[in-house]
Amino acid sequence: MLVCLGTRYSSLISFVRQHWEEPGKFLGLPTGYPSIDFYSGFRPGELTLLAARPGVGKTSFALSVLRNLLPALKDGEGIAFFSLEMSIEEIFLRLVSIESRVPLSDIRSGTVPVEKRKVVEDAAGRIAHLGLYIDDDSSMSVSLIRSRLLQFRAEVVWRLIVIDYIGLLTPEGPIANRAVQLGDISRALKALAREIGAPVLALAQLNRSVEAEADKRPKLHHLRDSGCLEQDADNVWFLYRPSLVIDPSDRARWKKHYEHYTEVICRKARNGQQFRVALKWVGETASFEEYSTEEAREVAAQEGLGVVDW
Ligand SMILES: Nc1ncnc2c1ncn2[C@@H]1O[C@H](COP(=O)(O)OP(=O)(O)O)[C@@H](O)[C@H]1O
Ligand SMILES: [Mg+2]
Repeated sequence: MLVCLGTRYSSLISFVRQHWEEPGKFLGLPTGYPSIDFYSGFRPGELTLLAARPGVGKTSFALSVLRNLLPALKDGEGIAFFSLEMSIEEIFLRLVSIESRVPLSDIRSGTVPVEKRKVVEDAAGRIAHLGLYIDDDSSMSVSLIRSRLLQFRAEVVWRLIVIDYIGLLTPEGPIANRAVQLGDISRALKALAREIGAPVLALAQLNRSVEAEADKRPKLHHLRDSGCLEQDADNVWFLYRPSLVIDPSDRARWKKHYEHYTEVICRKARNGQQFRVALKWVGETASFEEYSTEEAREVAAQEGLGVVDW
């Protein structure tokens, strides 16, 4: 639809004014992690890829972000989570563990002490009533995701759409090689973000090639190895947990942070800066936390975090 700017003037000028009414404020959806939100967040219409090797914590990161954001949703707003890999029950258990801080393994094995069960149930009650919509259909294409979202058009304003994960989406175009298929999928996801007017966070699995290099921090070409995904993405973030990939004899470098240290590395940012920040992995609840100020200072000084110019 062609829009005459004059007829949109009042909304356009208030968009301009927002920039000085709250200077420096990120005009989008935060992640809930101050160290990331300082640089970036999720803007409506943008496609953000979050990529890492299996088991590094892509799902954990997405669920931690959901846990941060859900309480701030207003009536009628929702977040959609398309889980191609895990069932609703499994996702719910993981969210309940994050919310209650009761170890996931205790919840799953039924060993939560009686006096802690109320904490778990209360957390479950909160999580279930915060505007999270989960679709655990394991066979999904982008057009199916689109139609599932549009079904709720009259009731829900989508604030964020999460897809876990992109490699499991069914391709729709003509038969082609994998790289071309993934390119089609990322293009369709970008179009979806713009049509729905919400940010899309799509998780992506990196293949083994990233482990072959001396610096095991994932880079854009590793994503390319798994298909031409990054072309249409506005932002590309990687997760890197040295404790999973470096030789344990090297652990002295990370000192007491070794087990927990995780970097979120932004290597593409269409409307912002690229950055490298640290979060703390909490294995018991399979989630990420912000470092305390003191720890953050120590970690940042050691690792040279912040804005980067690759
Ligand atoms: N159900 C679970 N029970 C216990 N630990 C888990 C469970 N799921 C994940 N984890 C832990 O969290 C880590 C990150 O998992 P996940 O976020 O699912 O990774 P990814 O999505 O990147 O493959 C895993 O390596 C594992 O240590
Ligand atoms: Mg996962």
